[in-house]
Amino acid sequence: MEFPVKTGAPASQKTACAILPVFEGRGLKGPAREVDLSCGGLLSQLLRSGDASAALGRSLLVPQLQGTAAERALLVGCGKQADFDAKRVRQVLSTATRRLRETGLKEATSYLTYTRHRGLNAYYAGRVTVEATRSAYYRFDELKTSSKAKDKLAKLAIAVADRRDTKEVRRGVHDGCAIAVGSDLARNLGNRPPNVCTPSHLAREARALGKRYENIEVTVLGQREMKRLGMGALLSVTQGADEPPKFIIVRYRGAGTRVAPVVLCGKGITFDTGGISLKPPAKLDEMKFDMCGAAGVLGTMAALGELQPNLNVIAIVPACENMPSGRASRPGDIVKTLSGQTVEILNTDAEGRLILCDALTYAKRFKPRYLLDVATLTGACVVAVGHLYTGLFSNDDQLADALLDAGKRSLDPAWRLPVDEEYGQSLKSQFADFANIGSRDAGASIAAQFLSRFVGDTPWAHLDIAGSAWTTGADKGATGRPVPLLTDFLLAL
Ligand code: BES
Ligand code: MN
Ligand code: ZN
Repeated sequence: MEFPVKTGAPASQKTACAILPVFEGRGLKGPAREVDLSCGGLLSQLLRSGDASAALGRSLLVPQLQGTAAERALLVGCGKQADFDAKRVRQVLSTATRRLRETGLKEATSYLTYTRHRGLNAYYAGRVTVEATRSAYYRFDELKTSSKAKDKLAKLAIAVADRRDTKEVRRGVHDGCAIAVGSDLARNLGNRPPNVCTPSHLAREARALGKRYENIEVTVLGQREMKRLGMGALLSVTQGADEPPKFIIVRYRGAGTRVAPVVLCGKGITFDTGGISLKPPAKLDEMKFDMCGAAGVLGTMAALGELQPNLNVIAIVPACENMPSGRASRPGDIVKTLSGQTVEILNTDAEGRLILCDALTYAKRFKPRYLLDVATLTGACVVAVGHLYTGLFSNDDQLADALLDAGKRSLDPAWRLPVDEEYGQSLKSQFADFANIGSRDAGASIAAQFLSRFVGDTPWAHLDIAGSAWTTGADKGATGRPVPLLTDFLLAL
């Protein structure tokens, strides 16, 4: 999909479809008014008759326009002009693109960000247009034998009124395309079924990144190396599975060797049955999404490969299945983590923290500037913030603020939750240094507190994406979050 940036009057711009914003208030304004004037007032007539509306979510396709260079107009309700911000642009773009997809048009021009709007600069106008459009046209149909999407848009021109904005809009388009590449990879990995997207599959996809981008290098450790290193917690999770585990290290080198890297650890449970603490059957298929942390950090590495920023970033993915079997770990088992601390496994379904704790310990050997982990870690986080926000936990206020800001800018928001040491009190174990579960209340904070015991004083943040990584119901599927947040955070460094 191409996103050329164009200047020029809306009435003289050739396009199969001009996407025109309609704002509340009397009559048409801006580009819609210009087109209206050249086609004899047809658009304002449609507004007066109520066929077109300024209400958010409304849209009207007007075919066979006369007297203007656009063949069609798509009138999109945008609400109050004063409230039209990046979030609204994304919202109306998804309405507009849904309508466009039905028409099967291959080309269109967007006037939604023709003039500058409150709280949306030229750069983010370009970026949000690309991200929203690419996301709206995303389909996961690689395993469908029929009904493959044929409604692909090849080109969406972005029209800008002020020539001086084109450079910034283009920069936004460029970054938006890179983020879309990363999000699409994250979504594909998340959506693939658990019999396809195994730990070995994740390792292959990571290696493919190393082939595609010259300054990305990939190392994959197998079970033998994990044993030699002493990753007792990770090994205990994989021990019930027949599928071999993989420990994947992806290094992006964009700065000198002396520059401390940012390390991103992603939970890669390719299927979470709960193990011996078996989960109930409802929605169990969705536990294929338990590798969305891994997908998110690999997607972010792909975005970095596209963008080539002046940074060093390392992604670490501990990947395995959590299965029940005669070899599976039992509630009551005690394991020695890579850090040397011992953990009593009281619930084999709290496996994410067990694989992540060894990954975090391993990550410290890179002396990271920032250490981040991304995980579909707790149902409790979904109870706390639902699906709108990613849960953010951190031992460093400056890092937490940078991530919150990146989340706001990229419309991939996070909400900070506490990790005070007191939340660790219920992790007390009679038999080991501590247990892998605590009390039920504040479950997301207890899980974060568990992880914090493996990071020392490295500036660290934990993103719990249990609610944000995928949607359930009719539109079930991976969202690609938090690729936009992470990429924005990294670009701002
Ligand atoms: N992968 C799950 C968390 C999860 C559950 C994410 C549902 C999204 C939807 C994780 O491994 C898990 O099972 N967590 C347990 C922890 C509990 C046993 C302390 C949970 O949240 O119930
Ligand atoms: Mn689990
Ligand atoms: Zn899990």
